[in-house]
Amino acid sequence: MASALKIEGVFTAYDKADVLQGVSLEVEDGRITCLLGSNGSGKTTLVRSILGLTPPRAGRIVFNGTDITQVPTHKIIAAGIACIPEGRKVFPKLTVEENLRVGAYQERSDKVASARLDEILQIFPRLAERRTQLAGTMSGGEQAMVSIGRGLMCAPKLLLIDEPSLGLSPRLVKENFDIIRSINERGITVLLVEQNVHQTLAISNYGFVLSKGRVAASGAPAELATRQEVRDAYFG
Ligand SMILES: Nc1ncnc2c1ncn2[C@@H]1O[C@H](COP(=O)(O)OP(=O)(O)OP(=O)(O)O)[C@@H](O)[C@H]1O
Ligand SMILES: [Mg+2]
Repeated sequence: MASALKIEGVFTAYDKADVLQGVSLEVEDGRITCLLGSNGSGKTTLVRSILGLTPPRAGRIVFNGTDITQVPTHKIIAAGIACIPEGRKVFPKLTVEENLRVGAYQERSDKVASARLDEILQIFPRLAERRTQLAGTMSGGEQAMVSIGRGLMCAPKLLLIDEPSLGLSPRLVKENFDIIRSINERGITVLLVEQNVHQTLAISNYGFVLSKGRVAASGAPAELATRQEVRDAYFG
């Protein structure tokens, strides 16, 4: 299997201390790969490193065979990586439709953007019903849908999803994860960052566990579920 994303020995710091201390991992093309790890282990920092928002101090990030380590963020997005950020970050004063259209800001053709919008409104009938509602007045679960839909509007090859289940009820987590699975079935590669171990492993093909800025374990879901490192990461 080809890897969509290859991270090799990445060190990333915000100030002096390295938050990521030599992280290496691979995201297989067409699959769902998960990144587990406790609060502060460096998961979001890795997402920021991939997107060029906080570029690595050392190491390499390769996307579909191209080194993107020092490439500016807008070019990384144009190359086919999209992110559904931690906390969803919808624009509260914009409507649902406007939020979705922001996701296609790099698309020059109005026709293409509108076709994508229609496609996304089909995936999320709830958003179709509420396309003129201000996103800030949507429920938490609905805002999660807006955020996922916005990420899809740039037709990414690889989707980075940072803690989609945060603050959602078990029913909405399941709904969201079903959506992530169906997005993956449409051919989009997914790197799923999560703390919800069981449900995440249930939809992933492979996983990595981050602990204090290093990869502490990796393996197939069934194997990871039994690993001490996974328990340590979540139960101290
Ligand atoms: N902008 C920043 N400036 C300085 N330090 C930061 C910044 N962002 C994160 N850090 C630090 O980097 C470390 C890793 O944070 P990060 O957000 O990557 O963790 P995380 O695994 O995503 O945690 P969580 O599960 O809580 O989201 C933490 O110690 C955090 O305080
Ligand atoms: Mg985080």
